[in-house]
Amino acid sequence: MSGIAVLGPGGVGGLLAGLLARRGQDVTCLAGPATVDVLARDGLRVESRQFGTFAVRVRAAERLDDGVDVCLIAVKATQLADALERLPADAVGGALVVPLLNGVEHVDLLQRRYPGAGVVPATIRCESTRTAPGVIRHDSPFVRVEMAATGRSADAVRRFADDLTDAGVSAQVSDDPATVMWSKLTFLAALALLTTAAGAPAGEVRERRRDDLVALVGEAAAVARAEGAAVDAAAVVAFFDGIPAGMQSSMQRDAEAGRPLELDAVAGAVVRTAARHGIPVPVTSRYVDLLTDRSRSALPRDAT
Ligand SMILES: NC(=O)c1ccc[n+]([C@@H]2O[C@H](COP(=O)([O-])OP(=O)(O)OC[C@H]3O[C@@H](n4cnc5c(N)ncnc54)[C@H](OP(=O)(O)O)[C@@H]3O)[C@@H](O)[C@H]2O)c1
Repeated sequence: MSGIAVLGPGGVGGLLAGLLARRGQDVTCLAGPATVDVLARDGLRVESRQFGTFAVRVRAAERLDDGVDVCLIAVKATQLADALERLPADAVGGALVVPLLNGVEHVDLLQRRYPGAGVVPATIRCESTRTAPGVIRHDSPFVRVEMAATGRSADAVRRFADDLTDAGVSAQVSDDPATVMWSKLTFLAALALLTTAAGAPAGEVRERRRDDLVALVGEAAAVARAEGAAVDAAAVVAFFDGIPAGMQSSMQRDAEAGRPLELDAVAGAVVRTAARHGIPVPVTSRYVDLLTDRSRSALPRDAT
């Protein structure tokens, strides 16, 4: 398949853009002017524990003008509204749109904004960081993309999964969109809230905040099931118990660096969906309120 646009060539987008371009795919990274200059001059450099260090040429543009087969969206939730200005609906046309943001609500937003496109529910699991414009450090010994193949986009999803596999990415195709999105969110919301609130890694929070961990996972899993997802709370807690003790969440790293948090997209979405189903989520709400207050008080006075 040719013609892949990547909106947001950061930790996630830059890694996939680099891996796909290395296999000969025609990749265009969409970014702001400073990053476009760097990419056009130096290309992308990926330093990966799994794939080694390599540099590749990619196209770079501030806005999508030509049609593409696939469009990956890999900005943070807090950057999405601005970034989508670079992706006009007429240029996207009938492309396959694969958003890789954490959270769930962006899928509906994108389906409304790009009615002619095939917007697919998708998630990515990896640990990857944009250390400088055009420079990506990939620390996890895996990259896993899961996409839901339903309706008219099913064949395009399978073709793109083959391209990802060819590029070294572990790509799974599911026929259950709710489970794709909510199985990740159930785990991630607990990890992000606990590690960010405590300022401590997974190993510490799962011991010291055990009751909250079980409650957070139980609440999100109840919401997930109401959304039609097959999510088992005990299995998610067991998975949490198995992750490396030193693991941090990206929300925790964002909080430590003073960057905006994806709190609303990740945990706010759990609270809103719970309200729609009439499911009480008191522990999730308490953590959301705490972190919202903290990020407000961290803002400069005239920004509040
Ligand atoms: N990183 C991970 O390991 C990981 C794993 C799983 C899921 N996720 C999720 O994936 C999403 C992306 O995270 P990330 O860590 O890859 O973020 P990131 O490293 O901060 O990358 C975001 C990219 O978006 C670009 N960008 C920001 N505003 C833009 C705009 N208006 N127009 C065009 N480009 C813009 C940034 O450009 P510049 O380079 O110019 O700053 C940057 O390259 C998040 O929802 C995150 O939760 C991340």
